[in-house]
Amino acid sequence: MASIHRSGSMGYLIILAVCVFLGVASYSCAELHRFEHAPKPDGSLTLFVIGDWGRRGAYNQSQLAFQMGIVGKELDIDFVISTGDNIYPNGLIGTDDPAFEYSFTKIYTASSLQKPWYSVLGNHDYRGDALAQLSPTLRHVDKRWICLRSYVVDAQVAEFFFVDTTPLVDNYFTQPGENVYDWRGVLPRNQYISNLLRDLHFALQQSNANWKIVVGHHTILSAGYHGNTLDLQNLLLPLLQENNVDLYINGHDHCLEHISSLESGIQFLTSGGGSMAWRGVVKWWKPEEMKFYYDGQGFMSLHLTQTQLDIAFYDIFANVLHKWTTSKHLHYSTL
Ligand SMILES: *[C@@H]1O[C@H](CO)[C@@H](O)[C@H](O)[C@H]1NC(C)=O
Repeated sequence: MASIHRSGSMGYLIILAVCVFLGVASYSCAELHRFEHAPKPDGSLTLFVIGDWGRRGAYNQSQLAFQMGIVGKELDIDFVISTGDNIYPNGLIGTDDPAFEYSFTKIYTASSLQKPWYSVLGNHDYRGDALAQLSPTLRHVDKRWICLRSYVVDAQVAEFFFVDTTPLVDNYFTQPGENVYDWRGVLPRNQYISNLLRDLHFALQQSNANWKIVVGHHTILSAGYHGNTLDLQNLLLPLLQENNVDLYINGHDHCLEHISSLESGIQFLTSGGGSMAWRGVVKWWKPEEMKFYYDGQGFMSLHLTQTQLDIAFYDIFANVLHKWTTSKHLHYSTL
């Protein structure tokens, strides 16, 4: 363990030294912010993933929240991941916008859901005051809320890499239409993107976790309404492949979906059914890769031990619609 650790931090020191040597202010070699989230005493971890939800309870958001509360208690979940589009239609107006309470605090009221909510921003969140959703002052309103642009949650049994995908998508910049996006902190865009990809690459490379899970709002592969996101296929997918990422989890398409990529071996999981679903919308996909597609509302659970990963998708009645399991040997060299 000691030697691996030393070589790991050596690599870090070298990169840091190079950054300092370059001495360019724009080369901020910032590490992604890290949270530690201890697993259960037996080393396992259980969590929910929900996306595209904040509609003041409408479109079955409240009913789904109610069922999440029941299943969350059964499974004894450790935390919740939000894949973004947290507040419709246009994010928050400011940190005192009551939409935050009406779409979050007053909806997910069950005791089992009083856990950290690790969240990313979606494109709709960028149409309001994006900084408000990122502001730690929201934790005075609801202490569960954890939303940064890009960051890492180290849960020992797995490491979660949260990625701010909206700035990676060309269309919002070149063809915003009538939508106004809050790009404070994102411009100049090229620099933002190169910093983000470099920090993510570094964090993935440094990770010793047996399971590596990347979370973003936008799809990479999807048969839903939006479908594949070409910009993410170009910018993000190579990093995931190079670093043996196990799962890529997203929202954006308002459905539940599991694509098992034959080419990369990565599981692409969409949990974007938190409120309004796009009924009847699905494109053709290779049947040997499409494990599951559901065009209604629902959520996903993830259960992890060192050697096993289980996912399940639930509908609004808490019926299990799809289950999938995989296992792998402990990566002993990292212990
Ligand atoms: C709520 O869920 C039920 C059951 O899936 C569905 O029939 C109904 O259309 C949903 N309502 C909305 C507004 O999506």
